Amino acid sequence: MTKIKKGPFWAKVCGHKQTGRTFYKLSLELTGDGAKSFSKTIPGQFVQIDLSTIALPPIETIPDEFAQQSRRGLLLRRPFSFCDVTTKKEKTIAEILYCVVGPASLRMTTLKNGDRVNIIGPLGNGFTMPKGKKAALLVSGGMGCPPLLHLLNLIKRDYPAIAAYVFIGAKSKADLPCPEVAKEYSGKKKEPVMLLSTEDGSAGTKGLVTELLENWLDKSGYAAKDIIIYSCGPEAMLSRVAGISKERKIDCQISMERMMACGIGVCQSCAIECRLPDSRNTIYKLCCKDGPIFDAKEIIFSE
Ligand SMILES: Cc1cc2nc3c(=O)[nH]c(=O)nc-3n(C[C@H](O)[C@H](O)[C@H](O)COP(=O)(O)OP(=O)(O)OC[C@H]3O[C@@H](n4cnc5c(N)ncnc54)[C@H](O)[C@@H]3O)c2cc1C
Ligand code: FES
Repeated sequence: MTKIKKGPFWAKVCGHKQTGRTFYKLSLELTGDGAKSFSKTIPGQFVQIDLSTIALPPIETIPDEFAQQSRRGLLLRRPFSFCDVTTKKEKTIAEILYCVVGPASLRMTTLKNGDRVNIIGPLGNGFTMPKGKKAALLVSGGMGCPPLLHLLNLIKRDYPAIAAYVFIGAKSKADLPCPEVAKEYSGKKKEPVMLLSTEDGSAGTKGLVTELLENWLDKSGYAAKDIIIYSCGPEAMLSRVAGISKERKIDCQISMERMMACGIGVCQSCAIECRLPDSRNTIYKLCCKDGPIFDAKEIIFSE
């Protein structure tokens, strides 16, 4: 198998829009070797972006909560997964849905069409589809939807016989990252079923997305062996999703996040404690290299 080059590559911004209160979608265009490498991206993989030279927004528009930290220089690249990657002719377009949480993501908001950013990737592993599954349940909490939207596109394209059910959870309607996940779909007209929950009840069902998942599983009629759960979101939610899949003997893959200094398995900053199969012993795996996608059974959650 030929090794996929990981760059660094230069990517050109070819689209950028605000999709929610603090959410933006950034489209990056790659050509040449970068286009080839990123055309092979598997949902769940990520990219390390150098945002150190990107300008801050005008000082008066920076929210108070970021005012202090935004002045910090950026030493390290930042990891982002993709909400879609498409290749046409010689170009690959990689789309990133991101939330503004600090200095790097704040700088990212000033990128405009034609700007260039330096990226390394695609990095890490990705979600896999075991044989024989009839239903894929994609469970997202908070900012967890990008890699699951990417996976949803792949399921629609490559696994049309598998029914996709998407469960989206957020604190409130204002925290939903983009219009694609801001309404429910019943599964008609070839759309996947999409179910929504918010903690304050301002959109979809009131409650946690894990409760929505459990209620659905109680009524679904699928045998556990025919289902696979994919999940991405806050760690407390992932821990509960892992618990549900264990209790119900359902296969489950989760996307883990850690602060990542290098993203390529060198610095050890992203270690995650994992169970060894059939043993009480544990080992540390690297989120950037062995993950970010893990079998839910492996992870030892702290919460
Ligand atoms: C594999 C992977 C994929 C990711 N995909 C996306 C994505 O698709 N969209 C998106 O918006 N974000 C994504 N993230 C998170 C993103 O990397 C961080 O939001 C970003 O690095 C923040 O940089 P900053 O300088 O703006 O904020 P910082 O100042 O670096 O962080 C702001 C706050 O967020 C916390 N934080 C930052 N990074 C992480 C992390 N990785 N895990 C837990 N807490 C963190 C910090 O502790 C701090 O409290 C991903 C992270 C990983 C590891
Ligand atoms: S981020 Fe450096 S080893 Fe994972």
